[in-house]
Amino acid sequence: MLKKTVSFYNGVEIPVIGLGTWQTPEDIAARVVKEGIEVGYIHIDTAAAYRNEHGVGEGLKLSGVDRKKIFITTKIPAELKTYEEAKESIRKSLELLDVDYIDLIIIHCPTPWREYFLRRKDYFKENVAVYRALEEAYEEGKIRAIGVSNFNIADIQNILDNCKIKPMINQIPWYIGCRDEALKAYCNRHQILVESYSPLGTGKLLGNKKIAKMAEKYGVTPAQLCIRFALQDVDITLPKTTHKDRMIENAKVDFEISEEDMETLKNM
Ligand SMILES: NC(=O)c1ccc[n+]([C@@H]2O[C@H](COP(=O)([O-])OP(=O)(O)OC[C@H]3O[C@@H](n4cnc5c(N)ncnc54)[C@H](OP(=O)(O)O)[C@@H]3O)[C@@H](O)[C@H]2O)c1
Repeated sequence: MLKKTVSFYNGVEIPVIGLGTWQTPEDIAARVVKEGIEVGYIHIDTAAAYRNEHGVGEGLKLSGVDRKKIFITTKIPAELKTYEEAKESIRKSLELLDVDYIDLIIIHCPTPWREYFLRRKDYFKENVAVYRALEEAYEEGKIRAIGVSNFNIADIQNILDNCKIKPMINQIPWYIGCRDEALKAYCNRHQILVESYSPLGTGKLLGNKKIAKMAEKYGVTPAQLCIRFALQDVDITLPKTTHKDRMIENAKVDFEISEEDMETLKNM
């Protein structure tokens, strides 16, 4: 499953499972990424805001695997909303990761985090300016794909209406109990891949009795059921762990959840 990929509309392929690194501290990120690559992960998800890009880059080098074989995503921080700040953020990510190019860079959030839930302002103009920096870096060959994260339909429509290059992906919260059918349908219509973050609900789903019971039926762990659910529902998912045994566990999702059980999980 770790080697399976899907394609952006520009033909670049992205592996369907990526190793998440939010809350993976910088001082262990190199070890975590090296171990992830050792057990077969070829897709790592980081962000400037995670403050671990240097460690992620170190892990990549320590693994000894050809950089071209690993897909790396990073993000422009939610709080940076000008063209100049975005351009500098891209430069800094390249420097910290110590790579010649980054596979995917996305805008972390349409608003600064402190305003995300209230949304008193739309930040449309600002996001177009940030996205322009991504388009430029893409055209210069510094990035192989560009996109957004946590964008709703209006946020994406703004980019479609005002930018040259359509976003290739929207990375959004997507797990049992957290789905957005309308946003998924909109993304599908515009050839924008949907990437599920927090497939385990940041760990909270793992204690759920109904999930545990269904996992037992399939002879898998609750984590495997949650990850498989995300993969059957959308295009890509990003389970995070700092433990090697869990990395192995989380990648073993070559089973099929029945349509009926998918419906049950979708309605939980
Ligand atoms: N774009 C965004 O705004 C955004 C937001 C959130 C997340 N993300 C991305 O999505 C990734 C995943 O989301 P997430 O970090 O919220 O959490 P998650 O993957 O849903 O869950 C991670 C939590 O579950 C634990 N865990 C993982 N595998 C396990 C297993 N097999 N058994 C038991 N516990 C297990 C982890 O602990 P240990 O690490 O201790 O194993 C951690 O506490 C992030 O790391 C990040 O890359 C993006």
